[in-house]
Amino acid sequence: MSHPDADKWNAVYQSGKHGRDEPVRILKDYAHLLPKIGTALDLACGTGANAIFLAQHGLQTSAWDVSEQAINRLHESAIQLGLKIDTEIRDVIVKPPEANRFDVIVVSYFLERTLIPYIIDALHMNGLLFYQTFTRERVDDTGPTNDGYRLAENELLKLCGNLHIVIYREEGMIGDTAYGFRNEAMLVGQRH
Ligand SMILES: C[S@@+](CC[C@H](N)C(=O)[O-])C[C@H]1O[C@@H](n2cnc3c(N)ncnc32)[C@H](O)[C@@H]1O
Repeated sequence: MSHPDADKWNAVYQSGKHGRDEPVRILKDYAHLLPKIGTALDLACGTGANAIFLAQHGLQTSAWDVSEQAINRLHESAIQLGLKIDTEIRDVIVKPPEANRFDVIVVSYFLERTLIPYIIDALHMNGLLFYQTFTRERVDDTGPTNDGYRLAENELLKLCGNLHIVIYREEGMIGDTAYGFRNEAMLVGQRH
């Protein structure tokens, strides 16, 4: 049966307009926080740049997305790179991650607020969540036009309030907006 999110995103990936080659900044800048061994999930992974980074770091990596196109591309990349990534076409809203499953979860540019308690529960004790996505406060038109898919001020911090906050960055429109980390918020939180 066709799935509206899958249809929409399959069309996006088929057009070649989407698909990042680089892992998200929160992961690159704070890679030193990653455990050396353990399990990791790239949730709503798209073409899986984060998953590739996690697997190259040595973590036993899973990557889930509702788009078959995206998952197929990641599967091919993993084969080319000689990496083992456990890919799955999965609607994470219908089937959220199971409790106590991962040491690391990465979410980038995907915001489904009702899912966040499940994501936190899916972390092992001391597990880490790396999250980065768009904010409503922005200096240009990057990202979704629908504000429902963008974070309100400090919202990511509140949504992840049950975690020990290790890193939080959200610069809004403060100061010289030609510089800094704009349009987005980033967080690393640890489950205690
Ligand atoms: C803006 S893209 C971000 C992809 C990737 N995380 C990145 O940073 O490049 C949003 C992704 O969420 C996926 N997605 C949307 N709804 C989903 C759902 N219900 N379950 C799983 N993935 C979903 C889309 O297929 C798409 O790959």
